[in-house]
Amino acid sequence: MSLLTLDTRASLRPPAPVPRAEPLGPIALLKALRNNPLETWTRAHFEQPIVTGGLLIGEVAVVSDPASIRRVLLENVGNYRKDSLQRRMLSAVLRDGLLTAEAEQWRIQRRTLAPLFAKRCVMSFAPAMARAADALVDRWRRRGEGCVLDIAAEVTQVTLDVLERTIFSDGLGGDPEDVRTAMRTYFDTIGRIDPFDVLGLPDFVPRLGRWRVRPALRFFDAAVDAIIATRRSRLAEDPSAMPRDILTLLLEAQDPETGHGLSEAEVRANVITFIAAGHETTANAITWSLFLLSQSPQWRERVAAEAEREMGGSADALAERLVETRAVVEEAIRLYPPLVAISRAAIGPDELAGQRIRRGAMVVIAPYVLHRHRLLWDRPDIFDPDRFLNGARDRIDRYAYLPFGAGPRGCIGSAFALQEATIVVASVTRNFELRVPPGHAVWPVHRVTLRPQGGLPMAVRSRVRTRGRQHTLS
Ligand code: HEM
Repeated sequence: MSLLTLDTRASLRPPAPVPRAEPLGPIALLKALRNNPLETWTRAHFEQPIVTGGLLIGEVAVVSDPASIRRVLLENVGNYRKDSLQRRMLSAVLRDGLLTAEAEQWRIQRRTLAPLFAKRCVMSFAPAMARAADALVDRWRRRGEGCVLDIAAEVTQVTLDVLERTIFSDGLGGDPEDVRTAMRTYFDTIGRIDPFDVLGLPDFVPRLGRWRVRPALRFFDAAVDAIIATRRSRLAEDPSAMPRDILTLLLEAQDPETGHGLSEAEVRANVITFIAAGHETTANAITWSLFLLSQSPQWRERVAAEAEREMGGSADALAERLVETRAVVEEAIRLYPPLVAISRAAIGPDELAGQRIRRGAMVVIAPYVLHRHRLLWDRPDIFDPDRFLNGARDRIDRYAYLPFGAGPRGCIGSAFALQEATIVVASVTRNFELRVPPGHAVWPVHRVTLRPQGGLPMAVRSRVRTRGRQHTLS
């Protein structure tokens, strides 16, 4: 075994709460759920294939047995629907885009939108992603050596930039900065859990948070409508002159079975859905990858060397060549899956991992728990991207590693997200060394997605480059 391998296996155990020996009592549980639900998981969750219990909302089963998860997400998928809390929270703003649509409306949208996220199409977005990464590198260089930046916030800007460049590649219209500000407000609002949604109050009861930001939301809706209308009329005039970005693809998309396109409302709902579902999740994946690399000199060097070798030329198939970087990203979202839990409501009774599931029970599949489960992983809490390299990945059960879910409702944007995260992580690591400032403790917190508590301050210094240019693209 080489020294490098020995070193890599020399146990980096990234920060995470120690599972509780016993479940919390009801009051302490409510408090912990409000502050950081990650701190409520017990040892049993990480050691048993299924843990059932009653909460205020009814019976809940946390399932970590791959065969049972396969049953819920694939084989018996018709018996499970997205639970109503999730739907209530999201559908008020996403208005029946792919993430929140159900039944026949979802089926039609899914088959109509599938080609947009097929491999070839996603690969055509690599140059736009590389340009967004280059813009980030330029911005950090201008900030000066050693400055401390909130990497979580910086990276969220890049993921919004990538979506802007891949959805609206010919611009945001007359007031791009105003649209960007409204877009940020919009997605900050979506990210908050409103107590009225939890109580199930109907949409006409005004939500305080949304009330305050309503002008920004209206402005963003109107801006998106205007961009769509302009693009539609330009497409009608001369389709060949239009960019092949997501907006054009959405406007041209046709249901392969009926030949019907999407309505104006569906185009808008899906533009907003892609931004909502795709920016913070991907930003978390990049943020945690950069944090883990800052803790692991061996992997930082491996990624920097790979980036040095593979970047600098064409962006075509770039992410395919960045295999080690991709393994780091996959390991980062194993340890810190951006979506901590996927939940479903059982429509009828079922049996999972030998336990009866009653009609109406909530079934929780928690990638955070599953990915650190003692029965499924060797040294589950240790950072080790080699798990995803040289054929080792093929030995991971498909239903033991679920950062993107699985089955018909699995993430449609997974290839897009992995490609983007790989390019951005490689680009940053090639150009910079990041260090957590002394005295700052990084801690994961579950707030809709899994993020570092209070952001991720890091000192940014230029990396001494061995060869090649700074930018990905000529
Ligand atoms: C690292 C980044 C991402 C993660 C971890 C992630 C995770 C997930 C997961 C776990 C689901 C399934 C939820 C469930 O079964 O209840 C999902 C669904 C979805 N994701 Fe992602 N996602 C990411 C990036 C993206 C991107 C970039 C896009 C689009 C540009 C996207 C669009 C969607 C949509 C539309 C759905 C709903 C699919 C359906 O119901 O048919 N996601 N995502």
